[in-house]
Amino acid sequence: MRILLTGATGFIGHAVAWALLERGHSLRLVVRRPPPSDLLGPRTEVWQADLRDRRALQGCMEGMEAVVHVAGQLRGWRFRAFYDGNVRATQNLLQEVAAPLRRFVYFSSLAAQGPLHPETGRPLGPVSHYGRSKRLAEEAIRRRLPEPSWVFLRPGVVYGPGDRALLPFFRWLLRHRRLPVPARPRRLGLVYVEDLVAFTLWALEAPEAAGRTFCITGPEAPSVSEILQQIARTMGRDLHPVPLPGIALKAAGLLGALLFPLGKPAPWINPDKLREARQEEWRCVQADAWHRAAGLHPTPLEEGLRRTLAFYRQAHWL
Ligand SMILES: NC(=O)c1ccc[n+]([C@@H]2O[C@H](COP(=O)([O-])OP(=O)(O)OC[C@H]3O[C@@H](n4cnc5c(N)ncnc54)[C@H](OP(=O)(O)O)[C@@H]3O)[C@@H](O)[C@H]2O)c1
Repeated sequence: MRILLTGATGFIGHAVAWALLERGHSLRLVVRRPPPSDLLGPRTEVWQADLRDRRALQGCMEGMEAVVHVAGQLRGWRFRAFYDGNVRATQNLLQEVAAPLRRFVYFSSLAAQGPLHPETGRPLGPVSHYGRSKRLAEEAIRRRLPEPSWVFLRPGVVYGPGDRALLPFFRWLLRHRRLPVPARPRRLGLVYVEDLVAFTLWALEAPEAAGRTFCITGPEAPSVSEILQQIARTMGRDLHPVPLPGIALKAAGLLGALLFPLGKPAPWINPDKLREARQEEWRCVQADAWHRAAGLHPTPLEEGLRRTLAFYRQAHWL
């Protein structure tokens, strides 16, 4: 298929691009900076554009049979930044759809479902600007495209080779044994990047995927403390968790907001991320629906972390 792919300069988009090329597809990469050289070749075309710039996208859908829209705004201070990077960017792409598409796969997020209520187990809906903007982007796609052509993927925390979000914890544990963890248990659904990529291929091609929303996390829903313990074990280290009260998390968010001028890209610790971090149950309502539908066997956390560590070492990131 001829596929328009966004986000190929990022962690997940790069892995998706590789898999699509290996599968024999031809790609038009919509990127705002040059893509990694390992993606360039006879079946790759580069379309340089910021997705927020409508004019730069004019004609980008010509000849395309499908879209895999991975690019997204993950961090920000204000709702406006998320709106522009997730909703307006998606609307700009949709404006360019002139002929029917075989599939539009959209990378939403577990944040669009929201955490589960600790007692009832019902989704609370988005609790952050990020989650709200992802939900609005889904709605924009639903409104613009006919029912069977779209698939929404709502991954939890994605980790694996190429990921820089978990890297600081690995680095910290190389040198230290003590690490602050939330005092109240907070469960996090994670997914190993290669499982997510395999599912993306299925979502793109399988007729039964059309018009469905999939929440995507691995087989376990460990607490933050259990994840860190597992990272430490993978590295052959001891971890002594230091319980951190909720008020300390709030203070860290405020400190982040004070130390970084609002004009700069937001750091990972910011008030919007802390709105999410305060929630206790970041899990899917039906955690196994995605891998059952696609006949996949998700990678256990222990194995995923082992492969991630091997990558960090090989790439000299550690
Ligand atoms: N990582 C996770 O745990 C996770 C979990 C759930 C959902 N997701 C979703 O998965 C997607 C990919 O996440 P990731 O972890 O791979 O993030 P990432 O490494 O930060 O990559 C984000 C990608 O989006 C591109 N992008 C952002 N805004 C753009 C714009 N205005 N115009 C053109 N390109 C733009 C970035 O381009 P530049 O390289 O130029 O910045 C980059 O290629 C996102 O939509 C995210 O919301 C991620």
